[in-house]
Amino acid sequence: MMDVQTQKIEALIGEMTLEEKIGQLQQCGPSLVGAFEVSFEELLDMMFDGRISQEEFGRLMSTAEKDFHEDDLRAGKIGSYNGVGDALTANRLQKIAVEESRLGIPLLFGYDVIHGFRTVTPIPLAESCAWEPELWQKTARMSAEEATAAGVHMTFAPMVDVAKDARWGRVSEGAGEDTLLNGDYGAAKVRGFQGPDLSQADAMAACLKHFAAYGAGEAGKDYNRVDMSAQRLREEYLPAYKACVDAGARAVMPAFNDLNGVPCTVNEWLLRDVLRDEWGFEGITVSDANAIAECVNHGVTTNRQAAAKEALQAGIDMDMTSNVYAENLAGLIEAGELAVDLLDQAVYRILKLKVELGLFENPYRTDEEKEKRTLVRPENRALAREAATKSMVLLKNDAVLPLNPQQKIAVFGALANDPGQMTGAWAIGAQENDCVSLVQAMDAQEISYAYHPGIVDGIVAKDEINQLAETADVVILAIGEQKEESGEAASKADISLPTIQLELAETLLRTGKPVVAVLFNGRPLAIPTVAEQVPAILEAWHPGIEAGNAILDILYGAVNPSAKLTTTFPFATGQCPLYYDHISTGRPGGKSKFTSKYLDTPLEPVYPFGYGLSYTTFSYSNLQVRTTDDAVRLTVTVTNSGAREGEEIVQCYVQDIVAKRARPVKQLKAYQKVLLQPGESITVEFAVPFEKLGYYDQKMDYTFEAGEFAFFVGGNSRDNLSETIHLSFI
Ligand code: BGC
Repeated sequence: MMDVQTQKIEALIGEMTLEEKIGQLQQCGPSLVGAFEVSFEELLDMMFDGRISQEEFGRLMSTAEKDFHEDDLRAGKIGSYNGVGDALTANRLQKIAVEESRLGIPLLFGYDVIHGFRTVTPIPLAESCAWEPELWQKTARMSAEEATAAGVHMTFAPMVDVAKDARWGRVSEGAGEDTLLNGDYGAAKVRGFQGPDLSQADAMAACLKHFAAYGAGEAGKDYNRVDMSAQRLREEYLPAYKACVDAGARAVMPAFNDLNGVPCTVNEWLLRDVLRDEWGFEGITVSDANAIAECVNHGVTTNRQAAAKEALQAGIDMDMTSNVYAENLAGLIEAGELAVDLLDQAVYRILKLKVELGLFENPYRTDEEKEKRTLVRPENRALAREAATKSMVLLKNDAVLPLNPQQKIAVFGALANDPGQMTGAWAIGAQENDCVSLVQAMDAQEISYAYHPGIVDGIVAKDEINQLAETADVVILAIGEQKEESGEAASKADISLPTIQLELAETLLRTGKPVVAVLFNGRPLAIPTVAEQVPAILEAWHPGIEAGNAILDILYGAVNPSAKLTTTFPFATGQCPLYYDHISTGRPGGKSKFTSKYLDTPLEPVYPFGYGLSYTTFSYSNLQVRTTDDAVRLTVTVTNSGAREGEEIVQCYVQDIVAKRARPVKQLKAYQKVLLQPGESITVEFAVPFEKLGYYDQKMDYTFEAGEFAFFVGGNSRDNLSETIHLSFI
């Protein structure tokens, strides 16, 4: 028996013309007109390749004259917009859809709310370093409150593409290299975005992306091929997407890349067999921008018409801005080449999401007043600051930090004084005026300092630097990447710091003053010399609008750093992809020549996965491992062996020592953040269910193989206690 909601949707579909049905599948972006005439896709392109900055993009999107193709909207040919992020425009367009189109079906507004909307929080890679699902959920909730107040109904997030290659610019957008963390991060984000009830005005549907394995592009090059075994896909890449589906994500975006030769956009195995049949996903699929049309470039369809046919057959419901469905579906259906049923199913799912969002009852979920009240509220800023302090990783500290207020400070580096850079990649709702740079925060907090950009016209200003450093007790050096150097279409063949920045660092080191390097970057960097020579290093990432305040919280010790890396820091780019959970080889790297290593670079990273320091120290003892009916239970004593209160992220890894398929040398299975007073010890407990200890065998059966398993517990993936036990899984 059909429920009432299904009946209503079916009845509505019954009334729709073919054109109106296809309209529901059409997601359109506004074109800019007037003085600056360019389509939405071209404008995005201009931002991605650096011709315009993110701010300019935002400014143009909010101020330039735009063509929303309103005649098409009236004719019921548009079901959704991408990139409308203000209440005034959203409501104006919604009114046309509801009052002037024949059936009055409300629009769905999608937007990239990746790490905050106006209140920009740290980039996802940074936030993941907090290892804290509650925080991830809270910042997503805050983003949803803001974005929905600006008229947004669906965000193209979370991105849970496991990213093991630091060359790929989009490592900034996910939770790093580990499968478990990406899944936990994504699921928490989904819960935060969507809230307990999607029909509430502040709930925003989550569109998880990019399905699947987008982060595994060959050579770290964006949009590149992904060719991997079915076992690896299942073990390392798919679980994070599955975790988001299980958390209730209402939408899925297939990835740009091909997977073993078949572009994800037309990959029926992925989109139907795995996503719908196996995982029971009932939400909508939205293509990535222009991705259906790009199947022609992939060389898997002869033309746009064939791409439309294959995409619908494979299970793409909504066409993001390629126009391919609008141009071709009617002809294909009329010619009997596509079953209208397939179209109806896609329309059904899209209408169902609109029903769930409450849009039929309340198409206008916001207004300009509400928008004004909601954006960048003081409590949102406070959360952004908390998230930033929890995301910054103290990489090194040779007794330089925390600073004391009596010390005289000199600050060098343009990134210390560039608020607009603090948001990092993919923050299209951001406004530069909201951002606080390090220098601005020092001004606001009345900390006296001397400042110099350090590099002027491409040259290190040695004389000025020496003069200023002379007067200081400590120097702060802001270096790293511009925000345009990570994110989409920002792959790099060299992830070390530019020579000029290294020269700046050397100049400062030569002054003999203690140097604190604050790194701003959207990916792991290869910084072997900085790591060796600079006595204190804080990885600040691109920390969001509260950047400066959060950095000062850490530098002056108001907050004790607790974050740990979720991504490995290589020694050199040539080691990429470098990640902790690699498989054992037959010749593990060692002293003898014929082992798996490089001639010119150490085997190990500079900083391993899970690594990060605190102003206190922690020691581990008494690891005990035992089995119960369905799980391995571990206990360990963690002691705060230092002099101040601090939080430690306790990590639990496993190695299946012998199995028929070679297994990772270590795999994260559980983690816990604990707060300890100086001298305090606590017992931390983990339970690792047996079901997490299997693997896919050669026949793709998920297998449990009895034998020795090593368990490791510690404060990072390298330094830990370990115990080996025999598991028979009976
Ligand atoms: C990106 C997506 C994003 C989309 C919409 C694409 O270029 O790959 O992650 O959601 O644009 O703006």
